[in-house]
Amino acid sequence: MLIKSKGMKPSRRNFLKAAAAAPVAAVAGRAGAQDTPDPAIVEKQPWNQFLGAGVDEAPYGMPSKFEAHVRRQNVPWLTADPVSSINFTPLHELDGIITPNGLCFERHHSGVAEVDPAEHRLMINGLVDRPLVFTMQDLMRFPRENHVYFLECAANTGMEWAGSQLNGCQFTHGMIHNVMYTGVPLRLLLAEAGVKTNGKWLLPEGADAAGMTRSIPMEKALDDCLVAFKMNGEALRPEQGYPVRLVVPGWEGNMWVKWLRRIEVGDEPWHHREETSKYTDLLANGQARRFTWEMDAKSVITSPSPQMPITHGPGPLTITGVAWSGRGTIPRVDVTTDGGITWQQARMSGPSLDKSMHRFYLDIQWDGKPMLLQSRAHDSTGYVQPTKEQLRAIRGENSIYHNNGIQTWAVDEQGVAENVEIS
Ligand code: MTE
Ligand code: CO
Repeated sequence: MLIKSKGMKPSRRNFLKAAAAAPVAAVAGRAGAQDTPDPAIVEKQPWNQFLGAGVDEAPYGMPSKFEAHVRRQNVPWLTADPVSSINFTPLHELDGIITPNGLCFERHHSGVAEVDPAEHRLMINGLVDRPLVFTMQDLMRFPRENHVYFLECAANTGMEWAGSQLNGCQFTHGMIHNVMYTGVPLRLLLAEAGVKTNGKWLLPEGADAAGMTRSIPMEKALDDCLVAFKMNGEALRPEQGYPVRLVVPGWEGNMWVKWLRRIEVGDEPWHHREETSKYTDLLANGQARRFTWEMDAKSVITSPSPQMPITHGPGPLTITGVAWSGRGTIPRVDVTTDGGITWQQARMSGPSLDKSMHRFYLDIQWDGKPMLLQSRAHDSTGYVQPTKEQLRAIRGENSIYHNNGIQTWAVDEQGVAENVEIS
């Protein structure tokens, strides 16, 4: 039996022994459950007594009604209007590495374009031998590939530059999703069009009202970019660019043009809005960095976290989170419970894929004392995630984008977590 009385801290051994000997209720930490009959065990529940819904009740399945709180959320004061706005992936509610399609954060500059795939075309023009126009059916006839990649908006964690602000990893780190894409390597489409020798840059363009464009160097396009039409096995969601989007693995989300309708080949970058007034980083000396495409290694503890407090009291506690790098894989994540005085290596679990999210766990015995939780990612290039102080020393405090500093959650005796900074 797991007893949570004062002065007697249950060890993992006791806990496991209790788990083996006691009924299920005790494993769940319901101390005293053996004295009072547990209605969840001794009474019939409605789902025991009546027939449930038959097949076809939900031709497209939805999560249980008890999971209704697991949802994307925006922060209304961040933007003036929801059509040019952002919402956030509920990272604190998720596990493993794949983001379910309906929970992928959305970022639109002019709302969701409702594109009819039969009327959609992708054009390749500019410095090519044969300008081409593809229908969706044409695209499906090229050899396609499957890859899991994270997409992180460069503005993720951008509200935290001046100090801790938003109380939850959904809001501080939720401009990210990680799905399996099915698509055609962009290099195959470019080969079909025949890129001229002076064709060094690409300008993908969206079919939404924003007509969003970004300059992408040819090497990246030929390396691993995909023209994707499926996510997690099914058609892209309208909000993710249905029927086709550009996938630019490891690079900032803004370059992953949705509702992709045109790719122009040119000999130099275009210096459009999204790579001049936006998506550049103003440094302390007044100069702006630009073309900071790669997303640096980053991690965050998703539970416990402000939206996911510890509710079970002292004893066994699973700390978990996610880590990712635009430059490769994450072989290692360290976790501290004392604000960085001591670090423990976390347990990585699940597939470790290039430019994909990774899942880590640290299983501890919580003594019920306050904690300062942090995680620190190491990527396969040897790069180590910096502290916010280290980042500010180089970048100053005027930046919006590319904040990959170490996040701190202060957990109190009650298990309530808060977004803080320590120095
Ligand atoms: N593509 C088009 N056509 N229009 C857009 O507004 N937003 C960009 C990018 N591609 C955008 C776009 C930005 S800033 C990001 S972070 C990602 O799409 C977000 O992708 P998501 O909505 O699938 O999360
Ligand atoms: Co973005």
